[in-house]
Amino acid sequence: MNYIGSKHSLRAFIGKHFARLANDGVQTCCDLFAGTGAVGRYFKSRGLRVMANDLQYYAYVLNKAYLEINTPPRFVKLRQALQKTHRQTARGRLAPVPMALALINELPGTRGFLAEHYSPLAKRFYYTQANAEKADAIRSAINAWRAAGIISDREYFYLLCSLLEAIDQVANTASVYGAYLKTFKRSAQRPLQLKPLELTNQVKGCKVFHEDANQLIERIHCDVLYLDPPYNHRQYGANYHVLETIARYDEPQLRGLTGMRDYPRSQYCQPKMAAAALEHLIARAQAKHIFISYNDEGIMSLKQVRDILSLRGSPKTFRQTYARFKADNQRQYKREATVEYLHYVRVTKT
Ligand SMILES: C[S@@+](CC[C@H](N)C(=O)[O-])C[C@H]1O[C@@H](n2cnc3c(N)ncnc32)[C@H](O)[C@@H]1O
Repeated sequence: MNYIGSKHSLRAFIGKHFARLANDGVQTCCDLFAGTGAVGRYFKSRGLRVMANDLQYYAYVLNKAYLEINTPPRFVKLRQALQKTHRQTARGRLAPVPMALALINELPGTRGFLAEHYSPLAKRFYYTQANAEKADAIRSAINAWRAAGIISDREYFYLLCSLLEAIDQVANTASVYGAYLKTFKRSAQRPLQLKPLELTNQVKGCKVFHEDANQLIERIHCDVLYLDPPYNHRQYGANYHVLETIARYDEPQLRGLTGMRDYPRSQYCQPKMAAAALEHLIARAQAKHIFISYNDEGIMSLKQVRDILSLRGSPKTFRQTYARFKADNQRQYKREATVEYLHYVRVTKT
């Protein structure tokens, strides 16, 4: 998923410093601002038991699936239920997951909340009407199957994650959901198709939370604490509001042209609050190693972040130039690249 602040392409940079610095038999890691889960998944693939957390429910869903599920569920009851109604479509020798997804992808669309609010039916162009109706059919079926005991919790999060990944691929936006394009771009016209998830099976017992990081920090103990807070004023709740509504499917009150829902405001996006919030977090961290990703366009200066880290030890800072996140290809950006900092402190002060 193309996500503001995603560290997907910085995994090697983070991994290199992690391997060099946190080499004293670490076993657990906490990714407190997990987003798409790119970093947590990377640490899991390196054999660490990962705890992950995010304020947004769609991010919780992605992390639940990628971290807590190790092997593809079998969808036994679901395949039985769907094959009864789609007997003619049963696909020969497909493995359980592709079979379940093939049957789900064939569900006929229904007009529900997503079609009525995020498609041309509402004069909003986030999705074609066909894709929004398909998403409604799948999303409401996922809830109904869970309520009827046809899918387990694991299967529920697997399917929801696959739906979020797939619907993001056909979104008619420049990248974030703060606005939609006026005409449907080619990728948005492709049919919504759920695909199998790429799971890793290196370690069991990963755990995902859905809380404010500054509250969760009081209860978390880990060897490595990885922090990747928002670095500017752009609230994730506003930029990904459509994904939040699909994940929750709670029919919220929507406002304005863009159909925005109410969303939680992160302290890290607010210049007057960000430094105090980070200081609160660092002071309470119960970890041996702390890493923080931040960039040179952030609300907090390099010095502020280093000063806060020095409350717990002697900070080190590593740099990597990184192609800037572009929400819009039409817009002129002042700079093509940003400097990504990775700050590190080995905790020596309590
Ligand atoms: C820079 S992004 C993280 C990106 C992530 N490392 C990745 O690679 O996808 C910051 C994340 O912090 C979350 N967030 C913001 N404020 C938060 C808070 N107070 N507690 C927990 N999560 C928060 C946002 O929802 C967002 O997903």
